[in-house]
Amino acid sequence: MAAEKPWVLMVTAQTPTNIAVIKYWGKRDESRILPINDSISVTLDPDHLCTVTTAAVSPAFDRDRMWLNGKEISLSGSRFQNCLREIRTRACDVEDKGKCVKIEKKDWEKLHLHIASYNNFPTAAGLASSAAGFACLVFALSKLMNVNEDQSQLSAIARQGSGSACRSLFGGFVKWTMGNKEDGTDSVAVQLTDEKHWNDLVIIIAVVSSRQKETSSTSGMRESVETSLLLRHRAREVVPQRVLQMEEAIKNRDFESFAQLTCADSNQFHAVCLDTSPPIFYMNDTSHRIISLIEKWNRSDGTPQVAYTFDAGPNAVMIARNRNVAIQLLQKLLVCFPPNPDTDMNSYVLGDKSILQEAGLGGANGVEALHPPPEVKENVHKGEVNYFICTRPGRGPVLLQDQTHALLDSATGLPNLSSPEKRTLA
Ligand code: DP6
Repeated sequence: MAAEKPWVLMVTAQTPTNIAVIKYWGKRDESRILPINDSISVTLDPDHLCTVTTAAVSPAFDRDRMWLNGKEISLSGSRFQNCLREIRTRACDVEDKGKCVKIEKKDWEKLHLHIASYNNFPTAAGLASSAAGFACLVFALSKLMNVNEDQSQLSAIARQGSGSACRSLFGGFVKWTMGNKEDGTDSVAVQLTDEKHWNDLVIIIAVVSSRQKETSSTSGMRESVETSLLLRHRAREVVPQRVLQMEEAIKNRDFESFAQLTCADSNQFHAVCLDTSPPIFYMNDTSHRIISLIEKWNRSDGTPQVAYTFDAGPNAVMIARNRNVAIQLLQKLLVCFPPNPDTDMNSYVLGDKSILQEAGLGGANGVEALHPPPEVKENVHKGEVNYFICTRPGRGPVLLQDQTHALLDSATGLPNLSSPEKRTLA
Protein backbone atom coordinates (compact mmCIF):
# COMPACT_ATOMS: atom_id res chain seq x y z
CA MET A 1 0.00 0.00 0.00
CA ALA A 2 2.13 2.80 -1.30
CA ALA A 3 -0.21 5.80 -1.22
CA GLU A 4 0.29 8.46 1.46
CA LYS A 5 -3.04 10.21 1.83
CA PRO A 6 -6.10 8.00 2.34
CA TRP A 7 -7.46 6.82 -0.94
CA VAL A 8 -10.77 5.16 -1.76
CA LEU A 9 -11.08 2.51 -4.46
CA MET A 10 -14.55 1.47 -5.50
CA VAL A 11 -16.66 -0.34 -8.06
CA THR A 12 -20.39 -0.21 -8.79
CA ALA A 13 -22.35 -3.17 -10.13
CA GLN A 14 -25.91 -3.84 -11.22
CA THR A 15 -27.50 -7.26 -10.75
CA PRO A 16 -30.90 -8.57 -11.81
CA THR A 17 -33.50 -10.36 -9.78
CA ASN A 18 -34.92 -13.71 -10.87
CA ILE A 19 -38.17 -15.62 -10.65
CA ALA A 20 -38.17 -19.39 -10.26
CA VAL A 21 -40.25 -21.43 -12.69
CA ILE A 22 -39.23 -24.61 -10.85
CA LYS A 23 -39.09 -23.59 -7.20
CA TYR A 24 -36.39 -23.98 -4.58
CA TRP A 25 -38.14 -24.80 -1.31
CA GLY A 26 -36.28 -26.63 1.43
CA LYS A 27 -32.67 -26.98 2.58
CA ARG A 28 -30.67 -30.07 3.41
CA ASP A 29 -28.00 -27.91 5.10
CA GLU A 30 -29.17 -24.68 6.74
CA SER A 31 -25.81 -23.01 7.29
CA ARG A 32 -24.30 -23.68 3.87
CA ILE A 33 -27.71 -23.12 2.22
CA LEU A 34 -27.84 -26.38 0.27
CA PRO A 35 -31.22 -27.19 -1.30
CA ILE A 36 -33.19 -30.43 -1.41
CA ASN A 37 -33.90 -30.08 -5.16
CA ASP A 38 -32.67 -28.39 -8.32
CA SER A 39 -34.48 -25.21 -9.40
CA ILE A 40 -34.79 -23.19 -12.61
CA SER A 41 -35.40 -19.47 -12.97
CA VAL A 42 -35.74 -16.72 -15.52
CA THR A 43 -33.69 -13.60 -14.93
CA LEU A 44 -35.72 -10.38 -15.11
CA ASP A 45 -34.51 -7.41 -17.12
CA PRO A 46 -32.38 -5.25 -14.77
CA ASP A 47 -33.51 -2.15 -16.67
CA HIS A 48 -36.75 -2.64 -14.74
CA LEU A 49 -35.87 -4.57 -11.58
CA CYS A 50 -32.36 -4.58 -10.16
CA THR A 51 -30.01 -4.00 -7.29
CA VAL A 52 -27.13 -1.55 -7.64
CA THR A 53 -24.23 -1.98 -5.23
CA THR A 54 -21.11 0.10 -4.72
CA ALA A 55 -18.28 -1.61 -2.85
CA ALA A 56 -15.33 0.46 -1.63
CA VAL A 57 -12.06 -0.13 0.19
CA SER A 58 -9.83 2.42 1.92
CA PRO A 59 -7.17 2.40 4.64
CA ALA A 60 -9.28 5.15 6.26
CA PHE A 61 -12.17 2.74 6.98
CA ASP A 62 -12.08 1.37 10.54
CA ARG A 63 -14.68 -1.40 10.12
CA ASP A 64 -16.84 -3.11 7.50
CA ARG A 65 -20.09 -1.15 7.02
CA MET A 66 -23.13 -1.49 4.80
CA TRP A 67 -26.05 0.74 3.83
CA LEU A 68 -29.22 -0.69 2.25
CA ASN A 69 -31.52 1.80 0.52
CA GLY A 70 -29.75 4.61 2.38
CA LYS A 71 -30.01 3.11 5.89
CA GLU A 72 -27.06 1.53 7.69
CA ILE A 73 -27.59 -2.18 8.39
CA SER A 74 -25.59 -4.67 10.42
CA LEU A 75 -23.15 -6.99 8.68
CA SER A 76 -22.83 -9.23 11.72
CA GLY A 77 -25.27 -11.91 10.47
CA SER A 78 -23.73 -15.21 9.44
CA ARG A 79 -24.96 -14.91 5.83
CA PHE A 80 -23.07 -11.63 5.29
CA GLN A 81 -20.05 -12.90 7.20
CA ASN A 82 -19.91 -16.11 5.12
CA CYS A 83 -20.02 -14.16 1.85
CA LEU A 84 -17.39 -11.64 3.01
CA ARG A 85 -15.07 -14.39 4.26
CA GLU A 86 -15.38 -16.47 1.08
CA ILE A 87 -14.67 -13.46 -1.13
CA ARG A 88 -11.77 -12.19 1.03
CA THR A 89 -9.98 -15.52 0.91
CA ARG A 90 -10.06 -15.38 -2.89
CA ALA A 91 -8.95 -11.73 -3.22
CA CYS A 92 -5.90 -11.06 -5.42
CA ASP A 93 -3.45 -8.19 -5.99
CA VAL A 94 -5.07 -4.97 -7.20
CA GLU A 95 -3.27 -2.00 -8.72
CA ASP A 96 -4.72 1.40 -9.62
CA LYS A 97 -1.90 3.34 -11.26
CA GLY A 98 -4.01 6.50 -11.59
CA LYS A 99 -4.43 6.63 -7.82
CA CYS A 100 -0.95 5.20 -7.10
CA VAL A 101 -2.57 2.40 -5.12
CA LYS A 102 -1.27 -1.13 -4.89
CA ILE A 103 -3.10 -3.63 -2.70
CA GLU A 104 -1.44 -6.99 -2.26
CA LYS A 105 -3.37 -10.19 -1.69
CA LYS A 106 -2.35 -10.33 1.98
CA ASP A 107 -3.51 -6.71 2.60
CA TRP A 108 -7.19 -7.61 2.11
CA GLU A 109 -7.26 -9.29 5.52
CA LYS A 110 -6.62 -5.95 7.23
CA LEU A 111 -8.55 -3.60 4.97
CA HIS A 112 -12.18 -2.73 5.67
CA LEU A 113 -15.04 -2.35 3.24
CA HIS A 114 -17.93 0.02 2.76
CA ILE A 115 -20.88 -1.30 0.80
CA ALA A 116 -23.98 0.59 -0.30
CA SER A 117 -26.83 -1.17 -2.02
CA TYR A 118 -30.06 0.03 -3.53
CA ASN A 119 -33.08 -1.94 -4.80
CA ASN A 120 -35.22 -0.09 -7.32
CA PHE A 121 -38.25 -2.06 -6.07
CA PRO A 122 -39.73 -2.60 -2.59
CA THR A 123 -37.44 -4.71 -0.37
CA ALA A 124 -39.08 -7.89 0.95
CA ALA A 125 -42.24 -7.39 -1.13
CA GLY A 126 -41.87 -10.91 -2.50
CA LEU A 127 -39.85 -9.72 -5.49
CA ALA A 128 -36.65 -11.59 -4.58
CA SER A 129 -34.77 -8.54 -3.33
CA SER A 130 -32.42 -10.76 -1.32
CA ALA A 131 -31.58 -12.67 -4.50
CA ALA A 132 -30.50 -9.57 -6.40
CA GLY A 133 -28.94 -8.11 -3.23
CA PHE A 134 -26.57 -10.95 -2.35
CA ALA A 135 -25.73 -11.61 -6.00
CA CYS A 136 -24.80 -7.94 -6.39
CA LEU A 137 -22.79 -7.90 -3.16
CA VAL A 138 -20.73 -10.91 -4.23
CA PHE A 139 -20.32 -9.73 -7.82
CA ALA A 140 -19.25 -6.18 -6.82
CA LEU A 141 -16.80 -7.43 -4.18
CA SER A 142 -15.32 -9.96 -6.60
CA LYS A 143 -14.58 -7.13 -9.03
CA LEU A 144 -13.19 -4.81 -6.35
CA MET A 145 -10.90 -7.56 -5.04
CA ASN A 146 -9.92 -8.95 -8.43
CA VAL A 147 -11.27 -12.41 -7.63
CA ASN A 148 -10.57 -14.87 -10.45
CA GLU A 149 -13.48 -17.30 -9.96
CA ASP A 150 -15.94 -17.80 -12.80
CA GLN A 151 -19.65 -16.90 -12.47
CA SER A 152 -20.64 -20.41 -11.32
CA GLN A 153 -18.02 -20.38 -8.57
CA LEU A 154 -19.24 -16.92 -7.54
CA SER A 155 -22.79 -18.29 -7.52
CA ALA A 156 -21.73 -20.78 -4.82
CA ILE A 157 -20.67 -17.81 -2.67
CA ALA A 158 -23.85 -15.81 -3.35
CA ARG A 159 -25.82 -18.97 -2.45
CA GLN A 160 -24.47 -18.66 1.09
CA GLY A 161 -26.14 -15.24 1.35
CA SER A 162 -29.52 -16.41 0.06
CA GLY A 163 -30.22 -19.56 -1.93
CA SER A 164 -32.06 -17.93 -4.80
CA ALA A 165 -29.23 -15.34 -5.14
CA CYS A 166 -27.02 -17.89 -6.89
CA ARG A 167 -29.34 -17.81 -9.91
CA SER A 168 -28.96 -14.01 -10.28
CA LEU A 169 -25.34 -14.36 -11.41
CA PHE A 170 -26.54 -15.13 -14.95
CA GLY A 171 -28.98 -13.72 -17.48
CA GLY A 172 -31.62 -15.70 -19.41
CA PHE A 173 -32.70 -19.07 -18.01
CA VAL A 174 -30.66 -20.43 -15.13
CA LYS A 175 -30.50 -23.75 -13.31
CA TRP A 176 -29.31 -24.15 -9.73
CA THR A 177 -27.96 -27.67 -9.48
CA MET A 178 -28.47 -28.91 -5.93
CA GLY A 179 -25.17 -30.85 -5.93
CA ASN A 180 -24.43 -33.67 -3.54
CA LYS A 181 -21.10 -32.80 -1.93
CA GLU A 182 -21.24 -32.03 1.76
CA ASP A 183 -19.16 -28.86 1.42
CA GLY A 184 -21.57 -27.46 -1.19
CA THR A 185 -18.91 -26.75 -3.84
CA ASP A 186 -21.05 -28.46 -6.49
CA SER A 187 -24.24 -26.60 -5.51
CA VAL A 188 -23.89 -23.91 -8.17
CA ALA A 189 -25.90 -22.06 -10.79
CA VAL A 190 -25.35 -22.60 -14.51
CA GLN A 191 -26.83 -20.72 -17.43
CA LEU A 192 -29.20 -22.80 -19.56
CA THR A 193 -29.72 -20.17 -22.29
CA ASP A 194 -29.00 -16.47 -22.51
CA GLU A 195 -31.70 -13.81 -22.58
CA LYS A 196 -31.78 -13.64 -26.39
CA HIS A 197 -32.72 -17.28 -26.82
CA TRP A 198 -36.43 -16.77 -26.06
CA ASN A 199 -36.86 -13.06 -26.43
CA ASP A 200 -40.51 -12.90 -27.41
CA LEU A 201 -41.56 -13.67 -23.83
CA VAL A 202 -43.05 -10.74 -21.92
CA ILE A 203 -43.32 -10.74 -18.14
CA ILE A 204 -45.97 -8.81 -16.22
CA ILE A 205 -45.81 -8.64 -12.44
CA ALA A 206 -48.82 -7.67 -10.33
CA VAL A 207 -47.54 -6.21 -7.08
CA VAL A 208 -50.45 -7.16 -4.88
CA SER A 209 -48.97 -5.98 -1.63
CA SER A 210 -45.82 -4.04 -0.83
CA ARG A 211 -45.99 -4.81 2.87
CA GLN A 212 -43.29 -6.84 4.58
CA LYS A 213 -44.18 -10.51 4.12
CA GLU A 214 -45.37 -12.46 7.14
CA THR A 215 -43.41 -15.71 7.05
CA SER A 216 -39.94 -15.35 5.57
CA SER A 217 -38.90 -17.90 2.94
CA THR A 218 -36.13 -19.03 5.27
CA SER A 219 -38.40 -19.97 8.18
CA GLY A 220 -41.25 -21.10 5.93
CA MET A 221 -39.08 -23.63 4.12
CA ARG A 222 -37.59 -24.83 7.41
CA GLU A 223 -41.09 -25.57 8.71
CA SER A 224 -42.03 -27.31 5.45
CA VAL A 225 -38.92 -29.54 5.62
CA GLU A 226 -39.82 -30.47 9.18
CA THR A 227 -43.52 -31.16 8.66
CA SER A 228 -44.59 -31.60 5.02
CA LEU A 229 -44.79 -35.09 3.55
CA LEU A 230 -45.79 -33.52 0.25
CA LEU A 231 -42.47 -31.66 0.15
CA ARG A 232 -40.59 -34.94 0.56
CA HIS A 233 -42.53 -36.44 -2.34
CA ARG A 234 -42.03 -33.29 -4.42
CA ALA A 235 -38.25 -33.16 -3.92
CA ARG A 236 -37.74 -36.89 -4.53
CA GLU A 237 -40.27 -37.79 -7.18
CA VAL A 238 -41.66 -34.69 -8.88
CA VAL A 239 -38.93 -32.08 -9.32
CA PRO A 240 -36.18 -34.30 -10.82
CA GLN A 241 -38.45 -35.16 -13.76
CA ARG A 242 -39.93 -31.69 -14.01
CA VAL A 243 -36.49 -30.09 -14.24
CA LEU A 244 -35.62 -32.28 -17.24
CA GLN A 245 -38.93 -31.45 -18.92
CA MET A 246 -38.46 -27.75 -18.21
CA GLU A 247 -34.94 -27.75 -19.67
CA GLU A 248 -36.33 -29.36 -22.80
CA ALA A 249 -39.22 -26.85 -23.01
CA ILE A 250 -36.81 -23.92 -22.67
CA LYS A 251 -34.38 -25.34 -25.23
CA ASN A 252 -37.21 -25.82 -27.76
CA ARG A 253 -39.08 -22.62 -26.85
CA ASP A 254 -42.09 -24.86 -26.30
CA PHE A 255 -44.47 -22.44 -24.57
CA GLU A 256 -47.23 -24.98 -24.01
CA SER A 257 -44.99 -27.27 -21.93
CA PHE A 258 -43.25 -24.31 -20.31
CA ALA A 259 -46.54 -22.80 -19.13
CA GLN A 260 -47.96 -26.10 -17.95
CA LEU A 261 -44.81 -26.90 -15.92
CA THR A 262 -44.47 -23.36 -14.52
CA CYS A 263 -48.07 -23.18 -13.29
CA ALA A 264 -48.03 -26.73 -11.92
CA ASP A 265 -44.80 -26.09 -10.03
CA SER A 266 -46.04 -22.84 -8.49
CA ASN A 267 -49.27 -24.54 -7.45
CA GLN A 268 -47.40 -27.47 -5.93
CA PHE A 269 -45.11 -25.14 -4.00
CA HIS A 270 -48.17 -23.40 -2.50
CA ALA A 271 -49.75 -26.79 -1.82
CA VAL A 272 -46.60 -27.67 0.15
CA CYS A 273 -47.08 -24.45 2.12
CA LEU A 274 -50.62 -25.57 2.97
CA ASP A 275 -49.29 -29.03 3.85
CA THR A 276 -46.89 -27.42 6.34
CA SER A 277 -47.83 -27.39 10.00
CA PRO A 278 -48.96 -24.77 10.87
CA PRO A 279 -50.00 -24.02 7.27
CA ILE A 280 -48.45 -21.05 5.49
CA PHE A 281 -50.59 -18.82 3.27
CA TYR A 282 -48.59 -16.74 0.85
CA MET A 283 -51.26 -16.15 -1.79
CA ASN A 284 -54.39 -14.13 -1.06
CA ASP A 285 -57.78 -13.64 -2.77
CA THR A 286 -56.26 -11.36 -5.38
CA SER A 287 -53.65 -14.00 -6.25
CA HIS A 288 -56.43 -16.58 -6.61
CA ARG A 289 -58.46 -14.26 -8.83
CA ILE A 290 -55.45 -13.82 -11.12
CA ILE A 291 -54.96 -17.59 -11.31
CA SER A 292 -58.58 -18.16 -12.34
CA LEU A 293 -58.49 -15.37 -14.92
CA ILE A 294 -55.45 -16.97 -16.59
CA GLU A 295 -56.69 -20.55 -16.23
CA LYS A 296 -60.03 -19.63 -17.86
CA TRP A 297 -58.32 -17.76 -20.67
CA ASN A 298 -55.83 -20.56 -21.33
CA ARG A 299 -58.62 -23.12 -21.37
CA SER A 300 -60.89 -21.11 -23.65
CA ASP A 301 -58.04 -20.67 -26.13
CA GLY A 302 -57.27 -24.38 -26.09
CA THR A 303 -53.56 -23.68 -25.70
CA PRO A 304 -51.74 -21.75 -22.95
CA GLN A 305 -51.17 -18.07 -23.63
CA VAL A 306 -49.85 -17.07 -20.23
CA ALA A 307 -47.96 -18.85 -17.43
CA TYR A 308 -48.22 -17.70 -13.83
CA THR A 309 -46.01 -18.22 -10.84
CA PHE A 310 -46.06 -16.97 -7.23
CA ASP A 311 -43.18 -16.90 -4.74
CA ALA A 312 -43.39 -16.47 -0.98
CA GLY A 313 -45.94 -13.66 -1.24
CA PRO A 314 -49.16 -12.72 -3.04
CA ASN A 315 -47.56 -11.05 -6.08
CA ALA A 316 -48.30 -12.68 -9.43
CA VAL A 317 -45.56 -13.08 -12.03
CA MET A 318 -47.17 -13.73 -15.40
CA ILE A 319 -45.21 -14.78 -18.46
CA ALA A 320 -46.94 -14.11 -21.79
CA ARG A 321 -45.95 -16.10 -24.87
CA ASN A 322 -45.45 -12.95 -26.97
CA ARG A 323 -46.10 -9.24 -27.12
CA ASN A 324 -49.61 -9.50 -28.55
CA VAL A 325 -50.65 -11.79 -25.75
CA ALA A 326 -48.99 -9.44 -23.23
CA ILE A 327 -51.06 -6.53 -24.56
CA GLN A 328 -54.26 -8.53 -24.16
CA LEU A 329 -53.15 -9.67 -20.71
CA LEU A 330 -52.50 -6.13 -19.56
CA GLN A 331 -55.90 -5.05 -20.86
CA LYS A 332 -57.65 -7.87 -19.00
CA LEU A 333 -55.72 -7.16 -15.82
CA LEU A 334 -56.47 -3.45 -15.94
CA VAL A 335 -60.19 -4.09 -16.42
CA CYS A 336 -60.20 -6.54 -13.55
CA PHE A 337 -57.93 -4.51 -11.26
CA PRO A 338 -58.34 -0.86 -12.24
CA PRO A 339 -56.33 1.77 -10.40
CA ASN A 340 -57.89 3.91 -7.71
CA PRO A 341 -59.38 7.13 -9.12
CA ASP A 342 -56.47 9.20 -7.79
CA THR A 343 -53.79 6.96 -9.38
CA ASP A 344 -52.62 7.83 -12.87
CA MET A 345 -51.78 5.13 -15.37
CA ASN A 346 -48.11 6.12 -15.54
CA SER A 347 -47.54 5.26 -11.92
CA TYR A 348 -49.80 2.19 -12.12
CA VAL A 349 -47.95 0.44 -14.94
CA LEU A 350 -44.18 0.58 -14.45
CA GLY A 351 -41.20 -0.81 -16.34
CA ASP A 352 -41.61 -1.23 -20.10
CA LYS A 353 -44.36 1.32 -20.72
CA SER A 354 -44.44 0.69 -24.46
CA ILE A 355 -46.84 -2.19 -23.79
CA LEU A 356 -49.21 0.27 -22.15
CA GLN A 357 -49.02 2.53 -25.20
CA GLU A 358 -49.60 -0.38 -27.58
CA ALA A 359 -52.56 -1.48 -25.51
CA GLY A 360 -54.03 1.99 -26.19
CA LEU A 361 -54.02 2.74 -22.48
CA GLY A 362 -51.58 5.60 -22.28
CA GLY A 363 -54.21 8.15 -21.27
CA ALA A 364 -56.01 8.47 -17.97
CA ASN A 365 -59.36 7.31 -19.39
CA GLY A 366 -57.93 4.29 -21.18
CA VAL A 367 -59.30 1.67 -18.82
CA GLU A 368 -62.87 2.93 -18.93
CA ALA A 369 -62.89 2.57 -22.70
CA LEU A 370 -62.05 -1.15 -22.50
CA HIS A 371 -64.73 -3.82 -22.76
CA PRO A 372 -64.60 -6.33 -19.91
CA PRO A 373 -63.41 -9.73 -21.21
CA PRO A 374 -65.68 -12.76 -20.60
CA GLU A 375 -63.41 -13.99 -17.77
CA VAL A 376 -63.88 -10.77 -15.88
CA LYS A 377 -67.67 -10.13 -16.09
CA GLU A 378 -68.71 -8.48 -12.85
CA ASN A 379 -65.39 -9.08 -11.13
CA VAL A 380 -63.86 -5.64 -10.87
CA HIS A 381 -61.52 -5.21 -7.93
CA LYS A 382 -60.37 -1.64 -7.69
CA GLY A 383 -57.31 -0.99 -5.56
CA GLU A 384 -56.35 -4.65 -4.99
CA VAL A 385 -53.18 -4.34 -7.05
CA ASN A 386 -50.67 -1.67 -6.01
CA TYR A 387 -49.07 -1.53 -9.45
CA PHE A 388 -47.97 -3.63 -12.41
CA ILE A 389 -44.44 -3.99 -13.76
CA CYS A 390 -43.91 -4.92 -17.42
CA THR A 391 -40.58 -6.54 -18.13
CA ARG A 392 -38.87 -9.38 -20.02
CA PRO A 393 -36.05 -11.92 -19.62
CA GLY A 394 -32.85 -9.98 -19.01
CA ARG A 395 -29.07 -10.00 -18.77
CA GLY A 396 -26.83 -10.99 -15.88
CA PRO A 397 -24.69 -8.72 -13.64
CA VAL A 398 -22.66 -5.87 -15.13
CA LEU A 399 -20.22 -3.29 -13.81
CA LEU A 400 -21.48 0.28 -14.15
CA GLN A 401 -18.52 2.34 -15.32
CA ASP A 402 -20.29 5.69 -15.19
CA GLN A 403 -19.44 7.18 -11.78
CA THR A 404 -22.80 8.92 -11.55
CA HIS A 405 -24.27 5.53 -10.57
CA ALA A 406 -21.97 5.21 -7.53
CA LEU A 407 -23.78 5.07 -4.20
CA LEU A 408 -20.68 6.01 -2.20
CA ASP A 409 -18.73 9.24 -2.36
CA SER A 410 -15.43 8.71 -4.17
CA ALA A 411 -13.51 10.91 -1.69
CA THR A 412 -15.01 9.80 1.65
CA GLY A 413 -16.43 6.34 0.88
CA LEU A 414 -19.63 7.35 2.70
CA PRO A 415 -23.11 7.23 1.14
CA ASN A 416 -23.45 10.08 -1.32
CA LEU A 417 -26.25 12.51 -0.97
CA SER A 418 -27.92 12.16 -4.35
CA SER A 419 -31.50 11.16 -3.75
CA PRO A 420 -32.22 7.43 -4.10
CA GLU A 421 -35.72 8.31 -5.33
CA LYS A 422 -34.14 9.26 -8.63
CA ARG A 423 -33.23 5.64 -9.15
CA THR A 424 -36.60 4.17 -8.28
CA LEU A 425 -38.46 2.14 -10.84
CA ALA A 426 -40.71 4.38 -12.95
C1 DP6 B 1 -40.17 -19.15 -3.02
O1 DP6 B 1 -33.65 -17.71 -1.48
O2 DP6 B 1 -35.29 -16.27 -0.22
O3 DP6 B 1 -38.61 -17.61 -3.91
O4 DP6 B 1 -32.13 -19.37 0.90
O5 DP6 B 1 -33.41 -18.98 2.98
O6 DP6 B 1 -32.51 -17.03 1.70
P1 DP6 B 1 -33.05 -18.46 1.63
O7 DP6 B 1 -34.42 -18.38 0.83
P2 DP6 B 1 -34.77 -17.63 -0.52
O8 DP6 B 1 -35.99 -18.55 -1.01
C2 DP6 B 1 -36.63 -18.35 -2.22
C3 DP6 B 1 -37.82 -19.22 -2.31
C4 DP6 B 1 -38.73 -18.95 -3.47
C5 DP6 B 1 -38.50 -19.92 -4.61
C6 DP6 B 1 -37.28 -19.69 -5.46
O9 DP6 B 1 -36.84 -18.54 -5.65
O10 DP6 B 1 -36.79 -20.69 -6.02
